[in-house]
Amino acid sequence: MSTTPDIAIIGGSGFYQLHSEPTVSSADKSRVQEIATPYADESIRLTQDELNEHGVYFIPRHGRGHEIPPHKINYRANIWALRQAGVNKILAVNAVGGIHPDMQAGSLVIPDQLIDYTWGREHSFFDGLDSLHDHVDFTFPYDAELRESLIQSASTVNLSVFPQACFGCTQGPRLETAAEIRKLKQDGCDVVGMTGMPEAVLARELGIAYAAITLVVNPGAGLSDEIITIEKIKNVLSAGLQDVRVLLAEAIKLLV
Ligand code: HPA
Repeated sequence: MSTTPDIAIIGGSGFYQLHSEPTVSSADKSRVQEIATPYADESIRLTQDELNEHGVYFIPRHGRGHEIPPHKINYRANIWALRQAGVNKILAVNAVGGIHPDMQAGSLVIPDQLIDYTWGREHSFFDGLDSLHDHVDFTFPYDAELRESLIQSASTVNLSVFPQACFGCTQGPRLETAAEIRKLKQDGCDVVGMTGMPEAVLARELGIAYAAITLVVNPGAGLSDEIITIEKIKNVLSAGLQDVRVLLAEAIKLLV
């Protein structure tokens, strides 16, 4: 295993460890690193692990037991720690609601755009130093090369993915109202989630290429007669995350 991987995977809801069932040999190879950052009293725990025989870092953004809700995640500390560890590429995984009628539960979507509806989150590393460098270009929030690797890898392993979508990032932790979903749809959002931002822009500020695999786990509020329940979401997650793991394992081959 390479001693310093330059790729990290950020796991979302339901994705708390890199391998669904770590084998003895994968457990042997995984190593925890604690990285101190200026953004948190406690250090950030990164697991250095192996995927398809390539070294990667893994970080579950909600913690190992989903103890950190979307608005309380220390996005700055996570991204800073990854940069300190030498990461220059991040593949992020997010559970989302589907808004586009084709993006039903179980769909994998690789967004190419986003709209940020979050508020009150620490959303920049540039805190007060008045420099023109603070204004990073964010026209295309996701890295084109990483997105292309994901799309190509999906085709190699026969997984269907939506290769373009606009990710509307809401504050949470509650789900949206039906009217909010109608508004997001009018705004052009195809999927809605709570953890896409400020993660994506913080990576950009530190020069880390970033792309996301979003897994649709429920229809957006009001788009179906069914009530969204955690039980239903968990069922979709357990099947969908297997697909996500297959996709990541293939993509890693193109990225190292
Ligand atoms: N809305 C926002 N975030 C989500 C949803 C949703 O419907 N499903 C999973 N994450």
